[in-house]
Amino acid sequence: MLGKGATVAKSLLVTRIGELVTNVGPDGCPGFAALPESALVIEDDRVAWTGPASRAPAADTVVDAGGRAVLPGFVDSHAHLVFAGERGGEFAARMAGSPYSAGGIRSTVAATRGASDTVLRGQLRRLAAEMLRQGTTTFECKSGYGLTVADEARSVALAAEVTPEVTYLGAHVVPSEFSGSADAYVSLACGPMLDACAPHSRWVDVFCERGAFSADQARAVLRAGVARGLTPRVHANQLGPGPGVSVAVEMGAASADHCTFLSDADVDALASSSPAVPPGGGREASPGGGGYRGTVATLLPGAEFGTRQPYPDARRLLDAGAVVALATDCNPGSSYTSSMAFCIALAVRDMRMTTAEAVWSATAGGALALRRGDVGWLGPGARADLVMLDAPSHAYLAYRPGVPLIRAVWQSGRRIPRSYVE
Ligand code: NIG
Ligand code: FE
Repeated sequence: MLGKGATVAKSLLVTRIGELVTNVGPDGCPGFAALPESALVIEDDRVAWTGPASRAPAADTVVDAGGRAVLPGFVDSHAHLVFAGERGGEFAARMAGSPYSAGGIRSTVAATRGASDTVLRGQLRRLAAEMLRQGTTTFECKSGYGLTVADEARSVALAAEVTPEVTYLGAHVVPSEFSGSADAYVSLACGPMLDACAPHSRWVDVFCERGAFSADQARAVLRAGVARGLTPRVHANQLGPGPGVSVAVEMGAASADHCTFLSDADVDALASSSPAVPPGGGREASPGGGGYRGTVATLLPGAEFGTRQPYPDARRLLDAGAVVALATDCNPGSSYTSSMAFCIALAVRDMRMTTAEAVWSATAGGALALRRGDVGWLGPGARADLVMLDAPSHAYLAYRPGVPLIRAVWQSGRRIPRSYVE
């Protein structure tokens, strides 16, 4: 800990912070926590000190926050960013009354297969930049719009250029050339396609839903991924009740995503898979994340917004003791938003989350869903990923929906250039 008056080489002091959301309680326990009238010191890529502004140490450079709020950078633990084309017409038809079905994925598959690497890379980088501008400093990125060995392999390779959190989602839907031979496609996804994708991936995902993959097919895909060193996550219970959540918990998935249609047994399974996160999360300088082994319920309200479905009931999950994350599900079909602030606002307004719960779920919750101990919180040892709002408190993210409140973003201690953010 730095003493008063200490100067740190290559250090930055952000002071006069009106509200510093740390997500670390005074006892070191994870949970929403915020310090009024505070300051924070960054040294290289890490947070070195947090505390009252009146006791802030000196540093090489000083930024005056002028009473604004500072939060951990958002952690978007669910996004599909490698694709070509768009489906604005499908969205408009839905808003006019057409239902959403998993089948729309196939039109993006056709566009993605037909696109060059340059086009896919350009689109991916544009979305990654769009996220960073909006305060997302860590994001996950799935394949799943290629669905051939070559197209899935290039999807994960491209994703790995922009994030370490790459997910192999070869089992997104059965592509039309395998229509009527779903098991043959599952064999491909568990065999040569996985072999080609595993070297670039950290995670394996499957869309376990009517119209996509059954529980047994999902288990086969996840087991094959685990055998190749990947950790499961599952698209579960998005379009109706089903086995996705129970498969996710049974397989030790890091996350069950969507969780829109849950039975009491699903809620119990998620809650009992989510032990209280111990102080330090089982790893030094890590309130959660690194040592965490529960299955997080990741809610994706952008998808319910974009498909006119009912929102998932976050309150029911929270009251049962489940760990909840919020993410965008950014994709061209169900949820073409990259805005974590928008998801926070929806969660507060329509999913019965408090503003503190929603901000925690969009930062620390996302970190747990990615089993990351270095992000989603702000205290000594955390990665210096922070967002300064043009507002005095985190509540403004829901209180002023749709307003661009991101004033400044730091990622790994480096300020994202003003021209990039503003
Ligand atoms: O998470 N549910 C499956 N996959 C995406 C939708 C993809 C699409 O419609 O293109 C989702 O909502
Ligand atoms: Fe998704």
